[in-house]
Amino acid sequence: MQDKINKYFTEVDAFNPANAEELEQFRISSLGRKGWMQDLLIDFKTLPSEQKRETGKFLNELKSKVERRIEHFKNVFASTETEKTTYTDLSRPGIPVTPGAHHPLTLVRNQITSIFQKIGFSISEGPEMEDDWHNFSALNFPPEHPARDMQDTFFISKDPDFALRTHTSSVQVRVMENSKPPIRTISPGRVYRNEAISARAHCQFHQVEGLCIDEGISFADLKQTLLYFAREFFSVETEIRLRPSYFPFTEPSAEMDISCTLCKGKGCNVCKYSGWTEIMGCGMVDPNVLDNCGIDSHKYSGFAFGMGIERIAMLKYKINDLRLFFENDVRFLKQFIAGI
Ligand code: DAH
Repeated sequence: MQDKINKYFTEVDAFNPANAEELEQFRISSLGRKGWMQDLLIDFKTLPSEQKRETGKFLNELKSKVERRIEHFKNVFASTETEKTTYTDLSRPGIPVTPGAHHPLTLVRNQITSIFQKIGFSISEGPEMEDDWHNFSALNFPPEHPARDMQDTFFISKDPDFALRTHTSSVQVRVMENSKPPIRTISPGRVYRNEAISARAHCQFHQVEGLCIDEGISFADLKQTLLYFAREFFSVETEIRLRPSYFPFTEPSAEMDISCTLCKGKGCNVCKYSGWTEIMGCGMVDPNVLDNCGIDSHKYSGFAFGMGIERIAMLKYKINDLRLFFENDVRFLKQFIAGI
């Protein structure tokens, strides 16, 4: 038996597998259930007891030698495996990394806010779930106004006093309630309306609201601020036009058009051959609204405006379907990577 053990010692020492398969073969033939180590143990049981001590010692040594050898080659093969996959062929093309990008709405929102920040406007935000006061009542909406209808507004079923805000004008109210004039602030955010989804309408979209309150603010300040914005955002040649309109929270109210970005006022199918495209609502803050929000309407006056970010982005990037902004199709999104 001792001879056999010696023979295996030499074999194990000489063992030098070429690959992981040979190593596995060796493991099975030595330590496996039908391997030679088992045979040796069976032989061992038949030995007279005075020999068992000495031979047992050798057997243990042999077994741990085999285990160490297997472990050693396992490590060797594992590291060459990773080397092979990661380093060996340096001429292989790298793994492509797609750079992340801002969503076009984020790009446009940032451009709009920074244009107003340059002339001293701060940025303010309010909650997307609003109460009736901030979204409607404080803004002078009469109780029977159609915007309060379930058809237009998503109400919260548990409490009819709460709804998803239908415009960012609600943030005006919060700012006026919580600060004193002079106020110059811009409020970007998401708004919701109960609309059927199409290329031109969606149940969620984004707006930017603007508010400026101080002593002696006039319609001329509104006009000049919006002209500055239009020329900074679109181009220096852009012209603006204000048309009388109606909003419950402004008096007088207007809608602002810009000269068509595509045909420069000559007439095309984007501006429906009028040469102008509407981009926002605006007006002088109604004195009732100032009073509702704790601002003395005899001392202060102000202007406000609100525009849809999607609409501005569609004009700027010539996108013709609103739904594209919300589908997160990377083929669409990656066109804006270059920080245009
Ligand atoms: N809140 C209006 C809307 O959602 C937009 C708007 C119009 C905001 C006139 C204003 C404003 O601040 O003065 O259609």
